[in-house]
Amino acid sequence: MAVGAQVPDPGDVLPVDVGGQPLVLVRDKAGEISGFHNVCSHRGVLLVTEPMKRQAGLRCPYHSWTYGHDGKLLRTPFVGGPDRHECPAIDKSKLGLRPVRTAKWLDFVFVDLSGVAEALEEVMAPLTARWSKYDFSRLSYGFGKSFSLRANWKLAMENYLESYHLPWVHPELNRVSPLDIHGQIDVAPYIFGQVTANYRPGGIGGRQLPAFPDLDETSDRCGEYPVVYPNLMLGVQRDHLFGIIVRPDGQGRTVEDLHIYFADETALETDYAEIRDQLLEGWVEVFMEDIDVVERMQKGRASSAFDGGVLTPYHDGPTRRFMALVERSVAPRH
Ligand code: FES
Ligand SMILES: [Fe+2]
Repeated sequence: MAVGAQVPDPGDVLPVDVGGQPLVLVRDKAGEISGFHNVCSHRGVLLVTEPMKRQAGLRCPYHSWTYGHDGKLLRTPFVGGPDRHECPAIDKSKLGLRPVRTAKWLDFVFVDLSGVAEALEEVMAPLTARWSKYDFSRLSYGFGKSFSLRANWKLAMENYLESYHLPWVHPELNRVSPLDIHGQIDVAPYIFGQVTANYRPGGIGGRQLPAFPDLDETSDRCGEYPVVYPNLMLGVQRDHLFGIIVRPDGQGRTVEDLHIYFADETALETDYAEIRDQLLEGWVEVFMEDIDVVERMQKGRASSAFDGGVLTPYHDGPTRRFMALVERSVAPRH
């Protein structure tokens, strides 16, 4: 997964790893994002290793075969010998990059390696409906930040699904948004999590970031924090939306990519800079507090005394549900 803001311009290219598969996302001239397996059809070299800006095409560094934004193989220099750039045995039309199915919800780019998953629009429809009160039409990318965790990705997801730890892990946040005003939400089979009845926006000198227009009083005050199974954490509040893409990096490591979007592009103006920084710092503090405890959980689970632990009936419903989905995903199919 990635976000469109990581490839903002035509020709921007981003390598991503999904389910152990090296992929590449490309934005074309029409502004559409496509996904391909990041492997050259010639000898299997990884095409792209770093994000790149405004590329005319994807050129393999090994023998310079070059692919278009649509994955078509365009050029095969010297393939037939000196000064022969074509060769009857090499049919370029059959040697394009292998596409992967991608779809976008807001700016979040999802990848379907199976090619047969339910349409993303339908999967997300209940959340789209629930959040229709937020006018996302002026949503503007603020910033991104990545965090590394020495822990399995599932523990990060499970931690996001519960608020039980709030008083002890997030004492500052708990003053504003205490445990007793948190609730759980069940939006759709793959979308569930928690909500708080009190989100207090930051501000400096009485000034606050612009809010989504025409929010009712409840939505103006609340924050909603569902996950989209398997690896997206979302958060929406009166003045911003964030997504955290949770990327496994082997069994015991994870990278979390935080992306923050503001309700309105005017939030990007210079005179909001301090308030934006305040917002980012606030979230970074909370996420670092979570990372600390998730890493401790990872270590604790290496103990031979850990027998699976206990889930509380009151707090751990969403966690239990996440575990059941994981179990279903990894179960052998017949
Ligand atoms: S491996 Fe890519 S051009 Fe040869
Ligand atoms: Fe937390």
